[in-house]
Amino acid sequence: MSALGITVALLVWAAILLLVSIWRQVHSSWNLPPGPFPLPIVGNLFHLELKNIPKSFTRLAERFGPVFTLYLGARRVLVLHGYEAVREALLDHKSEFSGRGEIPAFQAHKDRGIIFNNGPTWKDIRRFSLTTLRNYGMGKQGNEGRIQREAQFLVEALRKTQGRPFDPTFLIGCAPCNVIADILFHKRFDYDDEKFLRLMHLFNENFQLLSTPWLQLYNNFSSYLHYLPGSHRKVIRNVAEIKEYVSERVKEHHQSLDPTCPRDLTDCLLVEMEKEKPSAEPLYTMDGITVTVADLFFAGTETTSTTLRYGLLILMKYPEIEEKLHEEIDRVIGPSRTPAVKDRLEMPYVDAVVHEIQRFINLVPSNLPHEATRDTIFRGYVIPKGTVIIPSLASVLYDNQEFPDPEKFKPEHFLNENGKFKYSDYFKPFSAGKRVCAGEGLARMELFLLLSAILQHFSLKSLVDPKDIDLSPVKIGFGCIPPHYKLRVIPRS
Ligand code: HEM
Repeated sequence: MSALGITVALLVWAAILLLVSIWRQVHSSWNLPPGPFPLPIVGNLFHLELKNIPKSFTRLAERFGPVFTLYLGARRVLVLHGYEAVREALLDHKSEFSGRGEIPAFQAHKDRGIIFNNGPTWKDIRRFSLTTLRNYGMGKQGNEGRIQREAQFLVEALRKTQGRPFDPTFLIGCAPCNVIADILFHKRFDYDDEKFLRLMHLFNENFQLLSTPWLQLYNNFSSYLHYLPGSHRKVIRNVAEIKEYVSERVKEHHQSLDPTCPRDLTDCLLVEMEKEKPSAEPLYTMDGITVTVADLFFAGTETTSTTLRYGLLILMKYPEIEEKLHEEIDRVIGPSRTPAVKDRLEMPYVDAVVHEIQRFINLVPSNLPHEATRDTIFRGYVIPKGTVIIPSLASVLYDNQEFPDPEKFKPEHFLNENGKFKYSDYFKPFSAGKRVCAGEGLARMELFLLLSAILQHFSLKSLVDPKDIDLSPVKIGFGCIPPHYKLRVIPRS
């Protein structure tokens, strides 16, 4: 053998030894769940289809089982696939898996506020915000009245389209955005207010960009990619612009604050800040309050707005389902009374359709990443503190035992043989456990009341043959993004 041959053989041998030692190090020191072999630096990047990560998870679960380990850059990731594993992690290991995995695109919110907070302040800020949201949600001036009022504005705006085709993105989005703006800022915007439309554009653009392959890559390999050009810069700029807007509102509120008479959730947070004794690590700061309010503002708008928009597209594809909704709405509510929460009990079909829309569109397929807060024994494995946990919601919402033909839109998934609403514990679009969506109650009320109000007053008309409507999401990442479309709405009376 030549000297070159020997050198190459030695190098290959050394590389194999290095790989084996890395493998042993990561796997033998911890008794981790199985998973595909990771390469140095990139880890298991090539095991993931960045355009459809939930699909890759399903493939990997078929090979390695419902609990498996991946490496993405420096991150050790535990994926939980299927109802049993997800439920066990989120409910039986509530505290251990309640940390928040890092999302580098939201660096500006890291460890403050609620959503991206993996620090010691998360628990108290979440608890206080939830109590305040609940207080603002109750009573006559509460969420039901707030949504009902906004539903009237939405119906008026839809009437003004006079049967002409329009893009529903921002028109529909105005309603949930105004509901949360009222809770946060005691403010309602006109539907053509430029600032309002700009904010909704930022929310919408970020949700879309966060669902592209590049952002999946960036969020896992940000240390390598941060300084490169790319759409992550746009996301970061948009986050900064939203934060700047909220920061101005928080400052205005601070200047005009009357602690004896808080006007909205922002005031309530400011009152808590004023009450706090000076300390090295205060719970509430101006920046922390800004992040908390910004979290609620965009989470409270884009999710509900996308669900409604996707829902209308689905209903246009299935006119026979829309017809049944009209029939139930006419029978229970009639043509003029504003839909109310109490109506839901008598409207199993509308209830089932709203649930099926949320199941089918699978809005946040891979959930938000959680993180292990301490070394944890899970199903006999030892999961080290700091491991990123992905409890896949897609794998629960698309369970083919619980929901036969999960790829099909079937309200019957939530109806029993007598046409009554059928509860399913697999309905988990809001996740579960300590990190469960803080706006679940509000979102569910909005979806029911707004969809009922739209269909009470209008029939939906597609611009293409319903059979040609393709319901597949155009992007799958952070969210499942619906196809872009236009529609017409025709007054029913
Ligand atoms: C259809 C509507 C919505 C869906 C599908 C949805 C879904 C989700 C999901 C999947 C999570 C992650 C849970 C986890 O980490 O385990 C989440 C978190 C969150 N959501 Fe929602 N959401 C919706 C509406 C809302 C609304 C209206 C608000 C605001 C009032 C809101 C505020 C939040 C907040 C603050 C968190 C972070 C909770 C935490 O980290 O402790 N969401 N949501």
